[in-house]
Amino acid sequence: MKVFTILALLFAVVTASPIAKEKKYFHLQTTGAKNKELNNLFVHSYHTGAGLNDVVLAKDSDSAARVFLNGTNAQVDFKTEFPWGFVAVGDTNYASWESIKINVGYGSDGFSIKDGNFQWSTEYSFGGWLVCDWFHNVPQLFYLNRYYKPVIPSSCSKVQLKPVYLQQK
Ligand SMILES: *[C@@H]1O[C@H](CO)[C@@H](O)[C@H](O)[C@H]1NC(C)=O
Repeated sequence: MKVFTILALLFAVVTASPIAKEKKYFHLQTTGAKNKELNNLFVHSYHTGAGLNDVVLAKDSDSAARVFLNGTNAQVDFKTEFPWGFVAVGDTNYASWESIKINVGYGSDGFSIKDGNFQWSTEYSFGGWLVCDWFHNVPQLFYLNRYYKPVIPSSCSKVQLKPVYLQQK
């Protein structure tokens, strides 16, 4: 019995470790928006400065951000030598929602996929995703701060973000 348990554990360790290290890339796609035009859009980066991007949404999947989780960091593969990560901008202004960025570095921690949805940590005030037609003239991603009661403008919708896993290349 004991020998079997130990063997089973060893087997689990040996088989699990290479899989755990493999990067699983995914695109993020919107669902659940009241405004149907904001559904089935993919997360893209929008260059705003050296090493800085806003997060916008568009129909095209080919050029959508290739995201992977590294622990609880959500990183984006732009095929550069250095890493890029999702940054959830902190609450400094009592606002009901805040920006998400894809900047150089590993980004904020607290990202995960739970029940098939990509999310940030509620412990860090995450209250869901919000997509709005915004100042880049395309829909843009924000996160709601769960400690405030938002009045959602008519050009915005709450959404879920589903990972759409990619074939390994
Ligand atoms: C994952 O994050 C750690 C730092 O938290 C970093 O050292 C490592 O290089 C990252 N892995 C990838 C594939 O970027």
